[in-house]
Amino acid sequence: MDARLPYGLLSEDYSLPKRRHIKMRVQLLNAFWRATGGLQRRSFHSSCYCSGVVDGRKPAVPTEKKITIGDVTYERDSWTNITPKVLEHLGRNLHLQQYHPLAFLKRRIENFFYKNYPGRSRSPLFTLFDNLNPVVTTEQNFDSLLVPADHVSRAKSDCYYLNENYLLRAHTSSHQVELIRMGMNNFLVVGDVYRRDEIDKSHYPVFHQMEGVRLLTKHDIFRNENLATELPIFDPNGLRTAEKQETHTLDAVYILTKSLKTCLNELCQELFGKDVEIRWVEAYFPFTHPSWEIEVKFQGEWLEILGCGIMEQKLLVNAGADDKIGWAFGLGLERIAMKLYGIPDIRLFWSVDSGFLHQFQVDDPYTPITYKAVSQYPQCINDISFWLPADGTFTSSDFYDLVRSIGGDMVEQVSLVDEFHHLKKSRWSHCYRIVYRHMQKTLSQEEANKIHKLIEEAATRDLRVEIR
Ligand code: PHE
Repeated sequence: MDARLPYGLLSEDYSLPKRRHIKMRVQLLNAFWRATGGLQRRSFHSSCYCSGVVDGRKPAVPTEKKITIGDVTYERDSWTNITPKVLEHLGRNLHLQQYHPLAFLKRRIENFFYKNYPGRSRSPLFTLFDNLNPVVTTEQNFDSLLVPADHVSRAKSDCYYLNENYLLRAHTSSHQVELIRMGMNNFLVVGDVYRRDEIDKSHYPVFHQMEGVRLLTKHDIFRNENLATELPIFDPNGLRTAEKQETHTLDAVYILTKSLKTCLNELCQELFGKDVEIRWVEAYFPFTHPSWEIEVKFQGEWLEILGCGIMEQKLLVNAGADDKIGWAFGLGLERIAMKLYGIPDIRLFWSVDSGFLHQFQVDDPYTPITYKAVSQYPQCINDISFWLPADGTFTSSDFYDLVRSIGGDMVEQVSLVDEFHHLKKSRWSHCYRIVYRHMQKTLSQEEANKIHKLIEEAATRDLRVEIR
């Protein structure tokens, strides 16, 4: 390594087009694709950028010969291996939910980039894409990333193919080239990715990734290095070694690697705490060299959380960014969220059960939350409405305590769902929803009603409310 270079974190990238221009370009691209007949006639960019391309309200319909997703129909062929069950996950967009552990983690990582990489005129340097179509071409998912034609990752046994040309993206890296072609230099992509896998506590055929890409020009690279002259970043006669690609100079790769390591070490500290132990393990990806995987030590165990590396120059040349060099990373959101929130099973992320979702109903994504196991048995939901005593002595917390002391562990949640003031009576009314559930058995509605009745009686007697 070159000891002449002092390594500071690289700061602003002045080549970033303004966000609103990017938005316009995205809209124009959408309009273009629609006008030219959509997916069939796309050349290289094959993804729709329109918001809600996969419409959650319109379920994908696998018919005899065709598969329809949103407004687009795909012909089946010998590659088709997508199942209706997997298609059901399209449009769920867990990462876009207001109250969801994956959405919280996404927001925390997003904020990390906004805070650490301020752009010009107060707009963030990194642009976030979290609504790109998960249906991509094989060109996007593999060829654009220099994945060899016979690479195992293309196997039918590993991916969900709609047909020979289209599949559900297997990683968010599928969008790298199209976004760079659009002129993006610093961006994040978040989305659902699909891989054929067994289903158990830590594997599920759908999970979520967050991708980051940062491109730098020679000027960006050397701006913070306080050197009298800028050194070359490309070497026309170089050799590929373990440390670098043939076209890169060692100086440039050293600074770029420093920029990548600083960024990701700080990100790991942000997520797992300042004292987290981190190790960089050499890895291989067809689209980066050198490449690494990052592992962090969590509760005594090494946990692999992301892949990253210096982007292959050929990829950048193909994407029209031949004057820049860059780094990229891709991390799995579920793995990290399971550790941060103590979620024991990956299938829980898909839960629509309020016993799970209720625990994440907080406005601040930084709220520390430790998931508490809920019962597998069904819930019984009963509401209770009453007039409050006129003397103003009633408090909701007294009611919550009363419910807990009578219902015990059979009560999973209590929440105030409605309150109003009756002008003529000059009295307040509250309505609470009580969710009953047993940890070891199915609770019948009659059993729940009995406890509910006891709660009504106790509230009338002890809190002097008047049941409505
Ligand atoms: N796409 C890779 C994966 O899914 C991760 C990665 C992203 C690696 C970007 C390097 C650069 O495993």
